Amino acid sequence: MEVITVSELARKMNLKANALIGKLMSMGMMVTINQQIDAETAEILASEYGCSVRIVSLYDETIIETEKDRQEDLRPRSPIVTVMGHVDHGKTKLLDAIRSADVASGEQGGITQHIGAYQVAVEEGTVTFLDTPGHEAFTLMRARGAQVTDIVVLVVAANDGVMPQTVEAIDHAKEAKVPIIVAINKVDLPEANIDRVKQQLSEHGLIVEDWGGEIPAVEVSALKREGIGDLLSTLLVQAEIMELKANFSRAAEGKIVESRIDPGRGTVATVLVENGTLKVGDSFVAGIYPGKIRAMFNDRGQKVDLAGPAMPVEIIGLDGVPDSGDPFQVTDGEKLARQVSSKRQELKRVEAARNVKKVTLDNLYDSI
Ligand code: GTP
Ligand code: MG
Repeated sequence: MEVITVSELARKMNLKANALIGKLMSMGMMVTINQQIDAETAEILASEYGCSVRIVSLYDETIIETEKDRQEDLRPRSPIVTVMGHVDHGKTKLLDAIRSADVASGEQGGITQHIGAYQVAVEEGTVTFLDTPGHEAFTLMRARGAQVTDIVVLVVAANDGVMPQTVEAIDHAKEAKVPIIVAINKVDLPEANIDRVKQQLSEHGLIVEDWGGEIPAVEVSALKREGIGDLLSTLLVQAEIMELKANFSRAAEGKIVESRIDPGRGTVATVLVENGTLKVGDSFVAGIYPGKIRAMFNDRGQKVDLAGPAMPVEIIGLDGVPDSGDPFQVTDGEKLARQVSSKRQELKRVEAARNVKKVTLDNLYDSI
């Protein structure tokens, strides 16, 4: 429910707060200056003074005017793939196998704490991968991963089968209307039961191709690095069907994948560019914070000057720490970035004053 404090409403209407308090008293409401009133009351009150109330939500698209892309400006881009599945089913290990670099062994306790983003170049093209944690506490991050993604790779360990976070990942992918490719992992284990996985998936509405359905399923061993080529080509076939395109020549927009404070470099955020090209020197808003790109690094830590669609980059030059999943937009100059940011911070204060709702799959898309 939308709320506003009496003093804020008075300021917006260019009135003294006391005048509003008096008016509310005459309407039978006893309020103090810092008390919040709901949108309906604000509307009635405003109409008494010939004002109208427009309720805007945080990140309202109308705050930044975005130009429409012309068909002739669109060029093919690489797919964004999110790897999801139950905790410990081998998502990070699978990404390691794909990148042939060992990230999982360097993680705290082997659990993925944040979403990582990597770009992998294979002969047939480039694929962007997002890793998501399987731990149950990370529903929101998985949901956001599903939203920025073109294809979900659902990792199911063949020895363990479909588990709660597998089901949740299926639900997120369906909700976001994203195609699923199943990677049946850990097929090297003696207790691996591939048919049981396919059976369990069918109980959740995913019928794999060799059972007469439409869901591609690839058997892999992330540990032994087997089946990886198959998985990549299945992905690229799916991506080709989708004819993914973006405008490389406009101001960049995308999503914050993760952000953190780095002792040496200040606030560092990973941005996944969805459209346009990001450049060093660009002013931007990330969630509620303004910034200006001071430096950018690719997923291998190399300095880059440009980042096009589907490219994840680490950026330096933020004025605050945005949340994972926050929208990122380049603005026409620093002034606009600061204006949009202060508007959003004001809206955020109003939102924070409301009761914090528990996020579930049912109300998630209402709140982000
Ligand atoms: P979270 O990020 O915590 O959700 O886990 P995850 O899905 O990323 O799993 P991770 O890649 O960290 O792997 C979990 C464990 O399973 C590790 O000990 C891996 O070595 C092991 N593992 C992953 N893939 C395979 C595989 O193909 N075969 C076998 N035998 N073990 C595997
Ligand atoms: Mg992991």
